[in-house]
Amino acid sequence: MKNGSSRISRRDLIKSAAMAGATLGLTELRAASTVAEESILPSPSGTVIGMKFEPRSVIRVGIIGVGARGAGMLPNFLAVDGVQITALCDIVKDKCVNAQQVIAKAGHKAPSLFVNGERDFENLCKRDDIDFIYIATPWDWHVPMAVAAMKNGKHAGVEVPAAVTLKECWELVDTSEQTRRHCIMMENCCYGYNEMMVLNMVRAGLFGELIHGEAAYIHDLRSLLFEDQSEGLWRRFPHVTRDGNLYPTHGLGPVAQYMDVNRGDRFDYLVSMSSLSVSLGEYREKHIPADSPKRKEKYKCGDINTSMIKTAKGRTIMLQHTVSTPRTYDRINLISGTKGVFRDYPARLYFDGQEGGEKWTDLDKHKPQYEHPLWKNIGELARKRGGHGGMDFIMVYRLMQCMREGLAPDMDVYDGASVTAPGPLSEMSVAQGSAPVKFPDFTRGKWKESR
Ligand SMILES: NC(=O)c1ccc[n+]([C@@H]2O[C@H](COP(=O)([O-])OP(=O)(O)OC[C@H]3O[C@@H](n4cnc5c(N)ncnc54)[C@H](O)[C@@H]3O)[C@@H](O)[C@H]2O)c1
Repeated sequence: MKNGSSRISRRDLIKSAAMAGATLGLTELRAASTVAEESILPSPSGTVIGMKFEPRSVIRVGIIGVGARGAGMLPNFLAVDGVQITALCDIVKDKCVNAQQVIAKAGHKAPSLFVNGERDFENLCKRDDIDFIYIATPWDWHVPMAVAAMKNGKHAGVEVPAAVTLKECWELVDTSEQTRRHCIMMENCCYGYNEMMVLNMVRAGLFGELIHGEAAYIHDLRSLLFEDQSEGLWRRFPHVTRDGNLYPTHGLGPVAQYMDVNRGDRFDYLVSMSSLSVSLGEYREKHIPADSPKRKEKYKCGDINTSMIKTAKGRTIMLQHTVSTPRTYDRINLISGTKGVFRDYPARLYFDGQEGGEKWTDLDKHKPQYEHPLWKNIGELARKRGGHGGMDFIMVYRLMQCMREGLAPDMDVYDGASVTAPGPLSEMSVAQGSAPVKFPDFTRGKWKESR
């Protein structure tokens, strides 16, 4: 056998899915066991890989969810030439009104508001003055909203992670193919300065043949998780109901790009392990009053989850998640090949046989040659806008550019589904004592084609 992929048979997959039945819901189990079947069937409506946007000089944008993220992204959309925000939706009217004022202050026409409850987004989706709908709502809403957008003829941009279950990942893929609308997971970290520069260096062959990557979301969110606003209203609950990697995409998105995932390689299978769960509870004891209902919650999610992914080409990726421990922010962002290695936080490089011997060096000397053209051209503006060091603006600018010029997007529904899948797959593996679980081939065989 050439690589690990063939070592896990379909029978093993079904067996392991059945074992997981004790802890996973039946729906998820079914989704897991149909994945392998679906992945070998050609798409009935054709792939959307390489599908170009229809070019347009003005891009009319609707936004669903103007909480912390949606409101934060609004100025980025407003700063791109040709973008008009025509409609906003949120269950909290004040948030929409505030966002509407921001839009008016920027000299744009005031958008229509949809504030009549949790399904009013369906009315926004039906409008005929919207080309693209950006979705920045709690995770459980991403898929119903993206599906409604696409079914109403709009391209969808969904926040991270794109979905919660594998079944939902497939729903996005199927709907994008059926409706011929793009569904883009808005993974801003793929547009970070270092990430784009390293991608250029990878493509130029500086690291040789890629062997291994490391990715993570290490972010102390304990205080935010217990707030009585914004993410504190919903993001703690998955820690009660799920045990695995709840937020895999920020770290994995860029590493997937370095490795040409869905463009010559693909994630094949994953094993995952969760630590004990004590840190969130300990924080709560210290900071939350004894009579708060939050004190009754029982946290199931291990404080640190570590997964290993094997790719079809035999590469490995270590993927970690922790938001409940006192850690300094880190996405690791490591790529290692036959000729050298890059590791972020802080950014450093080492090349085999380099002058000065075996020690880390910084990126500076490579900047003139490998800094990404997008950062070269609009980096200053992006930094001024802020938003995670400017990468939010670069992402929005680039997506709007693709829509304006009628290009295919950098990331499509298959990419979003693939980097989201370690969420539910890690839960399955953890529930089965770290057993290997197969990734669905969302591209249905097209991953072999380079782009
Ligand atoms: N890419 C990034 O760097 C980044 C950063 C932060 C958050 N996020 C993602 O953005 C999303 C939103 O996170 P947030 O921090 O803004 O959370 P938030 O709670 O501050 O905002 C969510 C908003 O959605 C609204 N909402 C909830 N249900 C709704 C419904 N049915 N219809 C309309 N509006 C509804 C809420 O009222 C709220 O205003 C999440 O998916 C999160 O993971 C991404």
